[in-house]
Amino acid sequence: MTNKIAERVSRVLFSAEQIRIRAHAIGEQIAVDYADGAAKDLQRRPPLLVCVLHGALVFMADLAREIPTEVEYDFISVSSYGNGTSPGAVRLVKDLERPIEGRDVLIVEDIVDTGYTIDYLRRGFAARRPASIRICSLIDKVARRETEVQVDYVGFPLEENAFIVGYGMDYQELYRNLPFIGVLKPEYIK
Ligand code: PRP
Repeated sequence: MTNKIAERVSRVLFSAEQIRIRAHAIGEQIAVDYADGAAKDLQRRPPLLVCVLHGALVFMADLAREIPTEVEYDFISVSSYGNGTSPGAVRLVKDLERPIEGRDVLIVEDIVDTGYTIDYLRRGFAARRPASIRICSLIDKVARRETEVQVDYVGFPLEENAFIVGYGMDYQELYRNLPFIGVLKPEYIK
């Protein structure tokens, strides 16, 4: 069966194969960076990958399988208020299930855009006294940044301000299941 939603994309920005290659490289790098002696957790527990729902779900699943060492998972969900009255305001929808004190926390995102979400998460996590916090994002939309954030692992920097969907990213909750990242045709944007 042909992919009915892939036909609604005008341009593929990052193919499934390109993403797989980057995820593999980042996974290997993470394994090296958190190897014995490099990790900060005094109890030597594995790094805790924190998936920021819902967009990072697909990347997290693939990235985790490219890390050839022990990791643990947890999930968090946040939402931007998006009402225009308080730009950058972020709300916690679902918190982590376990404490992160003393842990090496690696936040996994699909995209860093304005940076407000990552800034909110990093500040909130820092207050819980983890051993370390790092950020991994598949896409780093640098041109849109409104607050300074350091992204430690980047899949692809994106200079153009294209509206992208696929591989976890949505338009009105659709297109997350596209296996690649692309630009939606204008006629499908309401
Ligand atoms: C997206 C993305 C990041 C955030 C980045 O989430 O997954 O979490 O926006 O934007 P920022 O850098 O401007 O804060 P979204 O709110 O669209 O929810 P979703 O993950 O459920 O798609």
